[in-house]
Amino acid sequence: MELDNQVALVTGGTAGIGLETARGLAAAGAEVVITGRDVERGKQAVDTIDTIGSGRVRFVQADLSDLASVAALAEQAGPVDVLVNNAGSFPAAPTVEQDVPGFEMVFNTNVRGPYFLVAMLVPHMLEQGRGAIVNVTTLATLKGYPGASVYSASKSALASLTRTWAVEFAPHVRVNSVAPGSTRTEGVLVEWGEGVEELGRAMPLGRTGRAREIAEAVVFLASPRASYVTGSTIHVDGGGTAV
Ligand SMILES: NC(=O)c1ccc[n+]([C@@H]2O[C@H](COP(=O)([O-])OP(=O)(O)OC[C@H]3O[C@@H](n4cnc5c(N)ncnc54)[C@H](OP(=O)(O)O)[C@@H]3O)[C@@H](O)[C@H]2O)c1
Repeated sequence: MELDNQVALVTGGTAGIGLETARGLAAAGAEVVITGRDVERGKQAVDTIDTIGSGRVRFVQADLSDLASVAALAEQAGPVDVLVNNAGSFPAAPTVEQDVPGFEMVFNTNVRGPYFLVAMLVPHMLEQGRGAIVNVTTLATLKGYPGASVYSASKSALASLTRTWAVEFAPHVRVNSVAPGSTRTEGVLVEWGEGVEELGRAMPLGRTGRAREIAEAVVFLASPRASYVTGSTIHVDGGGTAV
Protein backbone atom coordinates (compact mmCIF):
# COMPACT_ATOMS: atom_id res chain seq x y z
CA MET A 1 0.00 0.00 0.00
CA GLU A 2 1.14 3.53 -0.76
CA LEU A 3 1.77 4.59 2.86
CA ASP A 4 3.29 1.34 4.09
CA ASN A 5 6.12 1.89 6.61
CA GLN A 6 5.07 5.50 7.18
CA VAL A 7 3.88 7.13 10.39
CA ALA A 8 1.21 9.82 10.08
CA LEU A 9 0.16 12.28 12.78
CA VAL A 10 -3.29 13.85 12.46
CA THR A 11 -4.01 16.62 14.97
CA GLY A 12 -7.69 16.70 15.89
CA GLY A 13 -7.97 13.18 14.52
CA THR A 14 -10.71 12.19 16.96
CA ALA A 15 -13.68 13.80 15.15
CA GLY A 16 -14.94 15.22 11.88
CA ILE A 17 -12.47 15.81 9.05
CA GLY A 18 -9.49 14.64 11.14
CA LEU A 19 -11.14 11.33 12.02
CA GLU A 20 -11.97 10.59 8.36
CA THR A 21 -8.43 11.59 7.37
CA ALA A 22 -6.95 9.24 9.97
CA ARG A 23 -9.20 6.46 8.65
CA GLY A 24 -8.03 7.11 5.07
CA LEU A 25 -4.34 7.21 6.01
CA ALA A 26 -4.67 3.97 7.99
CA ALA A 27 -6.42 2.34 5.01
CA ALA A 28 -3.46 3.43 2.83
CA GLY A 29 -1.12 1.49 5.13
CA ALA A 30 0.18 4.17 7.50
CA GLU A 31 0.62 3.78 11.21
CA VAL A 32 -1.51 6.64 12.54
CA VAL A 33 -1.31 8.84 15.64
CA ILE A 34 -4.39 10.94 16.39
CA THR A 35 -4.69 13.74 18.92
CA GLY A 36 -7.35 15.72 20.74
CA ARG A 37 -8.01 17.11 24.20
CA ASP A 38 -10.78 14.68 25.18
CA VAL A 39 -9.28 11.31 26.17
CA GLU A 40 -12.56 9.37 26.04
CA ARG A 41 -13.28 10.63 22.52
CA GLY A 42 -9.71 9.69 21.60
CA LYS A 43 -10.12 6.11 22.79
CA GLN A 44 -13.42 5.72 20.95
CA ALA A 45 -11.90 7.14 17.76
CA VAL A 46 -9.01 4.64 17.90
CA ASP A 47 -11.55 1.81 18.19
CA THR A 48 -13.59 3.02 15.22
CA ILE A 49 -10.50 3.28 12.98
CA ASP A 50 -8.65 0.17 14.15
CA THR A 51 -11.59 -2.24 14.10
CA ILE A 52 -9.36 -5.32 14.12
CA GLY A 53 -7.26 -4.12 17.10
CA SER A 54 -3.98 -4.12 15.15
CA GLY A 55 -2.47 -1.49 17.48
CA ARG A 56 -1.40 0.57 14.43
CA VAL A 57 -3.57 3.53 15.51
CA ARG A 58 -2.84 5.34 18.76
CA PHE A 59 -4.14 8.38 20.58
CA VAL A 60 -2.01 11.06 22.24
CA GLN A 61 -3.82 13.68 24.31
CA ALA A 62 -2.72 17.19 23.36
CA ASP A 63 -4.00 20.75 23.43
CA LEU A 64 -2.65 22.66 20.44
CA SER A 65 -3.24 26.00 22.17
CA ASP A 66 -0.69 25.08 24.87
CA LEU A 67 2.99 25.11 23.85
CA ALA A 68 4.08 22.65 26.55
CA SER A 69 1.44 20.23 25.30
CA VAL A 70 2.64 20.70 21.70
CA ALA A 71 6.20 19.86 22.77
CA ALA A 72 5.00 16.75 24.65
CA LEU A 73 3.02 15.71 21.55
CA ALA A 74 6.06 16.02 19.28
CA GLU A 75 8.00 13.90 21.74
CA GLN A 76 5.35 11.17 22.05
CA ALA A 77 4.27 11.02 18.40
CA GLY A 78 7.53 11.56 16.56
CA PRO A 79 9.32 10.86 14.37
CA VAL A 80 6.64 11.06 11.69
CA ASP A 81 6.61 10.96 7.87
CA VAL A 82 3.24 12.67 7.41
CA LEU A 83 1.82 15.53 9.49
CA VAL A 84 -1.75 16.77 9.05
CA ASN A 85 -2.37 20.06 10.86
CA ASN A 86 -6.11 19.65 11.15
CA ALA A 87 -7.09 20.59 14.74
CA GLY A 88 -8.74 23.98 14.68
CA SER A 89 -10.75 26.36 16.76
CA PHE A 90 -13.56 28.26 15.05
CA PRO A 91 -15.75 30.25 17.45
CA ALA A 92 -17.64 33.11 15.78
CA ALA A 93 -17.81 36.68 17.10
CA PRO A 94 -18.40 40.09 15.53
CA THR A 95 -15.16 42.08 15.56
CA VAL A 96 -16.55 44.72 17.95
CA GLU A 97 -17.44 42.02 20.48
CA GLN A 98 -14.26 39.92 20.18
CA ASP A 99 -12.43 39.54 23.51
CA VAL A 100 -8.66 39.20 23.81
CA PRO A 101 -8.58 35.70 25.43
CA GLY A 102 -10.78 34.36 22.59
CA PHE A 103 -8.56 36.01 19.97
CA GLU A 104 -5.45 34.49 21.55
CA MET A 105 -7.02 31.05 21.88
CA VAL A 106 -7.85 30.92 18.16
CA PHE A 107 -4.39 32.09 17.07
CA ASN A 108 -2.62 29.83 19.57
CA THR A 109 -4.58 26.79 18.36
CA ASN A 110 -4.66 27.50 14.62
CA VAL A 111 -1.27 29.15 14.08
CA ARG A 112 1.19 28.93 17.01
CA GLY A 113 0.48 25.25 17.75
CA PRO A 114 0.93 23.99 14.16
CA TYR A 115 3.91 26.33 13.66
CA PHE A 116 5.94 24.89 16.54
CA LEU A 117 4.75 21.35 15.90
CA VAL A 118 6.16 21.64 12.37
CA ALA A 119 9.37 23.18 13.73
CA MET A 120 9.77 20.18 16.05
CA LEU A 121 8.85 17.44 13.56
CA VAL A 122 10.30 18.64 10.28
CA PRO A 123 14.00 18.14 11.17
CA HIS A 124 13.49 14.37 11.05
CA MET A 125 11.71 14.63 7.69
CA LEU A 126 14.54 16.76 6.29
CA GLU A 127 17.15 14.37 7.65
CA GLN A 128 15.51 11.31 6.09
CA GLY A 129 14.84 13.21 2.85
CA ARG A 130 11.12 12.48 2.82
CA GLY A 131 7.96 13.97 4.31
CA ALA A 132 4.57 15.48 3.62
CA ILE A 133 2.72 18.15 5.58
CA VAL A 134 -0.93 19.02 4.91
CA ASN A 135 -2.53 22.06 6.53
CA VAL A 136 -6.31 22.21 6.79
CA THR A 137 -7.36 25.81 6.10
CA THR A 138 -10.75 27.08 4.90
CA LEU A 139 -12.71 28.75 2.11
CA ALA A 140 -12.96 31.69 4.55
CA THR A 141 -9.31 32.62 3.78
CA LEU A 142 -10.64 33.90 0.43
CA LYS A 143 -14.17 35.07 1.28
CA GLY A 144 -15.53 37.48 3.85
CA TYR A 145 -17.87 35.88 6.37
CA PRO A 146 -19.31 38.17 9.07
CA GLY A 147 -18.31 36.91 12.52
CA ALA A 148 -15.37 34.89 11.21
CA SER A 149 -12.71 37.61 11.37
CA VAL A 150 -10.29 35.98 13.83
CA TYR A 151 -10.81 32.50 12.45
CA SER A 152 -10.30 33.59 8.83
CA ALA A 153 -7.20 35.62 9.71
CA SER A 154 -5.70 32.68 11.61
CA LYS A 155 -6.30 30.26 8.73
CA SER A 156 -4.90 32.82 6.27
CA ALA A 157 -1.70 32.73 8.32
CA LEU A 158 -1.64 28.94 7.97
CA ALA A 159 -2.21 29.29 4.20
CA SER A 160 0.76 31.66 4.06
CA LEU A 161 2.91 29.26 6.09
CA THR A 162 2.07 26.55 3.56
CA ARG A 163 3.82 28.54 0.83
CA THR A 164 6.82 29.53 2.98
CA TRP A 165 7.32 26.00 4.28
CA ALA A 166 6.96 24.50 0.78
CA VAL A 167 9.96 26.58 -0.31
CA GLU A 168 11.91 26.33 2.95
CA PHE A 169 11.66 22.53 3.17
CA ALA A 170 12.00 21.71 -0.54
CA PRO A 171 12.96 19.54 -2.31
CA HIS A 172 12.29 16.56 -0.06
CA VAL A 173 9.40 17.67 2.14
CA ARG A 174 6.17 18.70 0.43
CA VAL A 175 3.77 21.14 2.11
CA ASN A 176 0.21 21.73 0.88
CA SER A 177 -3.20 22.88 2.09
CA VAL A 178 -6.72 21.62 1.80
CA ALA A 179 -9.32 24.40 2.05
CA PRO A 180 -12.74 22.98 2.91
CA GLY A 181 -16.01 24.82 2.45
CA SER A 182 -18.92 24.32 4.86
CA THR A 183 -18.66 20.74 6.01
CA ARG A 184 -21.21 19.05 8.25
CA THR A 185 -19.23 17.93 11.31
CA GLU A 186 -19.97 17.65 15.02
CA GLY A 187 -17.78 20.66 15.75
CA VAL A 188 -19.29 22.98 13.17
CA LEU A 189 -22.82 22.13 14.33
CA VAL A 190 -21.86 23.07 17.91
CA GLU A 191 -20.32 26.41 16.86
CA TRP A 192 -22.53 27.48 13.95
CA GLY A 193 -25.64 25.29 14.28
CA GLU A 194 -27.78 24.43 11.27
CA GLY A 195 -26.72 27.75 9.69
CA VAL A 196 -23.96 25.70 8.12
CA GLU A 197 -26.57 24.12 5.81
CA GLU A 198 -27.59 27.55 4.55
CA LEU A 199 -23.94 28.25 3.67
CA GLY A 200 -23.80 24.90 1.88
CA ARG A 201 -26.92 25.69 -0.16
CA ALA A 202 -25.21 28.85 -1.46
CA MET A 203 -22.42 26.77 -3.05
CA PRO A 204 -22.67 25.76 -6.74
CA LEU A 205 -23.04 22.12 -5.65
CA GLY A 206 -25.90 23.24 -3.37
CA ARG A 207 -24.98 21.39 -0.18
CA THR A 208 -22.51 21.06 2.67
CA GLY A 209 -19.54 18.74 2.28
CA ARG A 210 -19.01 15.52 4.18
CA ALA A 211 -15.87 14.96 6.26
CA ARG A 212 -14.94 12.01 4.05
CA GLU A 213 -14.94 14.23 0.95
CA ILE A 214 -12.40 16.58 2.54
CA ALA A 215 -10.29 13.68 3.82
CA GLU A 216 -9.92 12.30 0.27
CA ALA A 217 -7.96 15.42 -0.73
CA VAL A 218 -5.81 15.33 2.41
CA VAL A 219 -4.87 11.68 1.87
CA PHE A 220 -4.04 12.38 -1.79
CA LEU A 221 -1.68 15.25 -0.84
CA ALA A 222 -0.02 13.09 1.82
CA SER A 223 0.54 10.25 -0.64
CA PRO A 224 3.22 9.69 -3.30
CA ARG A 225 0.49 10.27 -5.92
CA ALA A 226 1.02 13.98 -5.19
CA SER A 227 4.80 13.73 -5.57
CA TYR A 228 5.03 16.84 -7.84
CA VAL A 229 2.64 18.99 -5.77
CA THR A 230 3.93 21.43 -3.17
CA GLY A 231 2.93 24.89 -1.97
CA SER A 232 -0.56 24.29 -3.37
CA THR A 233 -4.10 24.35 -2.10
CA ILE A 234 -6.88 21.96 -3.03
CA HIS A 235 -10.24 23.68 -2.59
CA VAL A 236 -12.87 21.16 -1.53
CA ASP A 237 -15.79 23.52 -1.22
CA GLY A 238 -18.59 22.55 -3.57
CA GLY A 239 -17.43 25.28 -5.95
CA GLY A 240 -17.31 28.02 -3.29
CA THR A 241 -14.16 29.62 -4.68
CA ALA A 242 -15.73 29.85 -8.14
CA VAL A 243 -18.47 32.29 -7.07
N1 LIG B 1 -16.39 21.79 9.27
C1 LIG B 1 -16.24 22.83 8.45
O1 LIG B 1 -17.22 23.39 7.91
C2 LIG B 1 -14.87 23.35 8.15
C3 LIG B 1 -14.73 24.24 7.07
C4 LIG B 1 -13.47 24.74 6.77
C5 LIG B 1 -12.37 24.35 7.53
N2 LIG B 1 -12.55 23.49 8.58
C6 LIG B 1 -11.36 23.14 9.36
O2 LIG B 1 -11.23 21.75 9.41
C7 LIG B 1 -10.61 21.34 10.62
C8 LIG B 1 -11.45 20.27 11.29
O3 LIG B 1 -12.75 20.77 11.51
P1 LIG B 1 -13.98 19.82 11.92
O4 LIG B 1 -15.21 20.49 11.45
O5 LIG B 1 -13.69 18.42 11.53
O6 LIG B 1 -13.91 19.98 13.52
P2 LIG B 1 -14.49 19.05 14.72
O7 LIG B 1 -15.52 18.12 14.25
O8 LIG B 1 -14.83 20.02 15.80
O9 LIG B 1 -13.19 18.27 15.17
C9 LIG B 1 -12.11 19.00 15.68
C10 LIG B 1 -11.02 18.10 16.14
O10 LIG B 1 -9.94 18.91 16.62
C11 LIG B 1 -9.72 18.66 18.01
N3 LIG B 1 -9.38 19.93 18.65
C12 LIG B 1 -10.11 21.06 18.71
N4 LIG B 1 -9.44 22.01 19.39
C13 LIG B 1 -8.26 21.45 19.77
C14 LIG B 1 -7.14 21.92 20.50
N5 LIG B 1 -7.09 23.15 21.04
N6 LIG B 1 -6.10 21.08 20.68
C15 LIG B 1 -6.13 19.83 20.18
N7 LIG B 1 -7.16 19.34 19.49
C16 LIG B 1 -8.22 20.14 19.28
C17 LIG B 1 -11.02 18.04 18.50
O11 LIG B 1 -10.85 17.18 19.64
P3 LIG B 1 -11.05 17.73 21.15
O12 LIG B 1 -12.27 18.61 21.14
O13 LIG B 1 -11.17 16.51 22.00
O14 LIG B 1 -9.81 18.51 21.45
C18 LIG B 1 -11.41 17.20 17.29
O15 LIG B 1 -10.66 16.02 17.24
C19 LIG B 1 -10.47 22.62 11.47
O16 LIG B 1 -9.17 23.12 11.36
C20 LIG B 1 -11.45 23.58 10.82
O17 LIG B 1 -11.09 24.92 10.99
C21 LIG B 1 -13.75 22.98 8.91
